[in-house]
Amino acid sequence: MELERVQQIASLSKCMDTIPTDYIRSENEQPAVTTFHGAVLEVPVIDLSDPDEGKIVGLISEASREWGIFQVVSHGIPDEVVRKLQQVGKEFFELPLQEKELVAKIPGSQNIEGYGTRLQKEVEGKKGWVDHLFHIIWPPSAINYRFWPKNLPSYRETSEDYAKRLRGVADKMFEYLSKGLGLEPSEMKDGMGGEDLIYMMKINYYPPCPRPDLALGVVAHTDMSGLTILVPNEVPGLQVFKDDYWYDVKYIPNALIVHIGDQIQILSNGKYKSVFHRTTVNKEMTRMSWPVFLEPPPEQEIGPIPKLVNEENPPKFKTKKFKDYAYCKLNKLPQ
Ligand code: OGA
Ligand code: NI
Repeated sequence: MELERVQQIASLSKCMDTIPTDYIRSENEQPAVTTFHGAVLEVPVIDLSDPDEGKIVGLISEASREWGIFQVVSHGIPDEVVRKLQQVGKEFFELPLQEKELVAKIPGSQNIEGYGTRLQKEVEGKKGWVDHLFHIIWPPSAINYRFWPKNLPSYRETSEDYAKRLRGVADKMFEYLSKGLGLEPSEMKDGMGGEDLIYMMKINYYPPCPRPDLALGVVAHTDMSGLTILVPNEVPGLQVFKDDYWYDVKYIPNALIVHIGDQIQILSNGKYKSVFHRTTVNKEMTRMSWPVFLEPPPEQEIGPIPKLVNEENPPKFKTKKFKDYAYCKLNKLPQ
């Protein structure tokens, strides 16, 4: 049987110094060739406990225009809640393969939820060195426990606790992003579907890779969400593209990494940038990450917010339903 999971391939190639050719990127993508090693430019780090809200709004707005990504510290989610989330995710990926396959994606289904390996059609048949688990964590009406790990007693409680607390951070982010464009505080979240916003959890599992110089974890992309809020583990690997170079994102304990996704770029009519990013892998250590994609409900129409459009600023994007946007993106069709 063909080995499908990267975790299996990694455990077989542990003592080798090669990887299957399917995982070797072309030279213009290989991290050893394309990572910038000069003066370090750092993704902005923003302290959310600053009593000066105007300052926070200014920093978030600037980071979202210049980088499309920033880290937040003192965000109000207790360290213990995040630590538990990481623990149960790690426990899931350490279960025997058959246990993980119980929550596998349904082959041929349009639903991306479940345990899986490939998300999009791969370019030139090349594969990323990563497995994942996807499932919705909010709102309760959209959750399908069919895709949540079985036989891990605290998985559900831990993930639901994180979801509940993440909502507070997400609401603040949308508010700051609205204010940063001179909009009413609720306008960005309303544009994203308000209380119907979907929180899609993904756990990425990047096993050790014998040739991290040749492979990539997640290949370069922008997220199709509105915002993505990500918890990393201590193994660095996230890189962002800025001014023609790939930069490493520094690991900061207890920080959350906030990405601007395609839908906020569209709502803001291009003022905020959807960040182009990718991940590298590590020779000895397992990298994991827990992004939550904040997505509009499928039927939500997304286009530039009318107040941001005028004669000097014509709409830069089409208005379309999120489900149609997602279909084109996943199938690599023009928008
Ligand atoms: C993703 C992603 C980054 C990371 O899954 O979309 O970009 O740090 N992950 O794992
Ligand atoms: Ni991403």
